[in-house]
Amino acid sequence: MNTSKSPKRHRLFNIRIKSPSAKVTKKFGETLGLELRKKIPKVNGALVISLRGELGSGKTTLIQGIARGLGLKRHIVSPTFLLMRVYAIAKKQKRKLLHIDAYRIATKKDAAILENKDFFNNPAHIVAVEWPERIPHLMRKRTIEITIKHGTSEHERSIIMKT
Ligand SMILES: Nc1ncnc2c1ncn2[C@@H]1O[C@H](COP(=O)(O)OP(=O)(O)OP(=O)(O)O)[C@@H](O)[C@H]1O
Ligand SMILES: [Mg+2]
Repeated sequence: MNTSKSPKRHRLFNIRIKSPSAKVTKKFGETLGLELRKKIPKVNGALVISLRGELGSGKTTLIQGIARGLGLKRHIVSPTFLLMRVYAIAKKQKRKLLHIDAYRIATKKDAAILENKDFFNNPAHIVAVEWPERIPHLMRKRTIEITIKHGTSEHERSIIMKT
């Protein structure tokens, strides 16, 4: 038996669901948030959740669900004119949810403020990133990758999650 590779550590999940409404997308996020509340996967540094998808696909909506699952009382709003918002998850544990919206970042210089090492390196952080394609140099290899795609009808979305 090969014991050098722990199957637990290298386990990959691929989940694909069809969401018929914002409510279902939020619920999906809530389930993920609940899981993360129970147990944070062991990674070096922060747990990064990357959310890809066109404008209005539902990235913020999904993060609102994650926040609810994590037990946040405050309502998550889109950080549109801010690059990042920070929410305390549990005061005692110093755990925080960092919500980054990189949409407006055009150059590496614009992203300089996010280069504070603590944001991405602190194991107490869950960092949810909208528009990760704008800050590839800051994204880690070990992330939860979520992609949301529009479906055939107005409210339909496909949510693809890889961990
Ligand atoms: N199945 C669905 N899942 C998520 N959102 C949906 C769905 N159907 C409709 N919506 C609506 O689509 C919009 C998604 O907005 P949201 O701000 O979450 O998108 P976003 O991906 O964060 O956009 P942006 O790139 O501008 O930040 C909301 O108005 C939401 O109610
Ligand atoms: Mg958004």
